[in-house]
Amino acid sequence: MRSLICLGGPGSGKGTQCAKIVEAFGFTHLSAGELLRREIYSNSKKGEMIRDTIKEGKIVPSDVTVSLIKREIQASENDKFLIDGFPRSEDNRVAFEHIIGAEPELVLFLECPEEEMIRRVLNRNQGRIDDNIETIEKRLKVFNKLNFPVINYYDAKGKLRKISAVGTIEEVFEKIKPQFSAYKET
Ligand code: ADP
Ligand code: C5P
Ligand code: MG
Repeated sequence: MRSLICLGGPGSGKGTQCAKIVEAFGFTHLSAGELLRREIYSNSKKGEMIRDTIKEGKIVPSDVTVSLIKREIQASENDKFLIDGFPRSEDNRVAFEHIIGAEPELVLFLECPEEEMIRRVLNRNQGRIDDNIETIEKRLKVFNKLNFPVINYYDAKGKLRKISAVGTIEEVFEKIKPQFSAYKET
């Protein structure tokens, strides 16, 4: 199993760019946020806890998120995964490495100014319970506090690829593409 990771603050464009990477390079896209949102609507026992956590902009316990990711990996015939929005904390990262037993080959980090992230999230228009200004402010705080240690960890390991998320969707994708030169286009 080979995994790549895409990180960035809320609204930095992770989902948008992952969709393009997947199309060009044949990965299976696993968005941790999407898997958690799907779980809310599946009537599972954990749904209510997940909804409350997302509404507060906090991080869902790692065992819950990792087991959703693991289920998708096991159900897939692909062996290349692009994991979006995970790990969000050191606890997420350690749980992933323990349970999946693998480290990512490469970590993309979409760097975006906060004002631009806020603008994008408020314009997203997907009816998300966390795309309002109160929750966004909490998510930005959580991102700065918990996700940066993970980003620094991968940086120290030489796995981090920092990309400016400013510009049009196509412009950002053009900057990402060379990072994938080792993965041939499909
Ligand atoms: P994330 O997954 O990081 O939260 P999304 O990919 O959902 O971010 O993007 C957030 C919003 O910003 C979406 O409405 C998306 O269409 C828009 N968006 C994404 N990339 C760009 C860009 N480069 N310029 C302007 N808007 C963008
Ligand atoms: O990545 P996305 O913006 O879709 O994440 C939405 C929310 O899902 C986060 O703000 C957080 O509450 C939750 N989440 C999480 N753990 C992750 C990814 C997302 O708790 N690894
Ligand atoms: Mg997303």
